[in-house]
Amino acid sequence: MSHNSIGHMFRVTTWGESHGPAIGCVIDGCPPLIPLTVAEIQTELDRRRPGQSRFTTQRKEPDQVRILSGVFEDDRTGGPVTTGTPISLMIENIDQRSKDYSEIRDRYRPGHADFTYDAKYGVRDYRGGGRSSARETAMRVAAGAVARKVLPSVNIRAALVQMGEQSIDRDRWDWDTVNENPFFCPDAKAAERWEGYLDGIRQAGSSVGAVIEVVADGVPPGLGAPVYGKLDQDICAAMMSINAVKGVEIGNGFEAGRIRGEDNADRMRQGNDGAPVFLSNNNGGVLGGISSGQPVVARFAVKPTSSILTPVETVTRSGEETDIMTKGRHDPCVGIRAVPVGEAMMAIVLADHYLRHRAQNG
Ligand SMILES: Cc1cc2nc3c(=O)[nH]c(=O)nc-3n(C[C@H](O)[C@H](O)[C@H](O)COP(=O)(O)O)c2cc1C
Repeated sequence: MSHNSIGHMFRVTTWGESHGPAIGCVIDGCPPLIPLTVAEIQTELDRRRPGQSRFTTQRKEPDQVRILSGVFEDDRTGGPVTTGTPISLMIENIDQRSKDYSEIRDRYRPGHADFTYDAKYGVRDYRGGGRSSARETAMRVAAGAVARKVLPSVNIRAALVQMGEQSIDRDRWDWDTVNENPFFCPDAKAAERWEGYLDGIRQAGSSVGAVIEVVADGVPPGLGAPVYGKLDQDICAAMMSINAVKGVEIGNGFEAGRIRGEDNADRMRQGNDGAPVFLSNNNGGVLGGISSGQPVVARFAVKPTSSILTPVETVTRSGEETDIMTKGRHDPCVGIRAVPVGEAMMAIVLADHYLRHRAQNG
């Protein structure tokens, strides 16, 4: 009923609000005896952490994760390993500044969740958006780090491929470049251009949207279950559950609606090892809801940050018309920090399907 969990066999539940004392998650169903250290989770969290460049929120959160349960170490385990019991992870909120948010106590930010939370619950933690704040996505990234350990042969990476009207040149795609610029951009030239572009947006008190591409290499064929547990269906739901995501596509996505069958078909040839070789990957590694063994490719669109310094029309809780200008610390392009979140959601869905496939097919 409350929908704070995702997954069936690898089940993640998150809890906490932006300005509460802490946020956390519980992962139930992680297999035992998987080596797992705090450092492995921290590495992923550090990629999403706020305040790392002038292009993300200046909220200073160290995001130090603690493992509260589900991991054990003694002289026989050879290091910390999962025990098969619920893994509970927690991060303390350090840098809350409730006063920054006093003006949204009674006024709804257009494009944010303020009005709908009030309409649904009749009560709202307005401090930083409470549960609707993307602070919650830190726990997705933490859980994603554990999910990656369930899938040691799968490599999940993501990149920002479009910021506002500015796209990358796909011919210049270089995965090594992704972690060398503040945007997770795979095209070094585009990343250079985006610095000036986003500075302009930020200084104008505005914000801009983005498109992120997530690629999972090494996914074995067979993950996903027709007809209501399709792999692509679950990936889309997981990506769409990320704050501010407004569109998701798999493979060539909406382009498939514009091209002909012979151009869209992923033609096949017989490989030397007996497995077929696909000559393209328009279907994004999923056929009939089941992974084909090709890279699984998803893309999602993130809307521009709705908390902006530009005044916009709104109404108050008591029904008066007014304008709102949201001060406080906001990302001018929330798509940037959504990149590690997209990777995490892909990892969580793939880990869940991997365990579900193993349960049914051995
Ligand atoms: C990493 C990340 C950071 C975000 N930071 C902000 C922010 O600083 N200000 C804001 O208005 N929205 C921010 N958002 C988006 C809101 O959380 C989101 O728009 C809001 O919860 C309403 O949900 P919806 O856009 O999915 O409908 C962020 C989203 C992500 C993914």
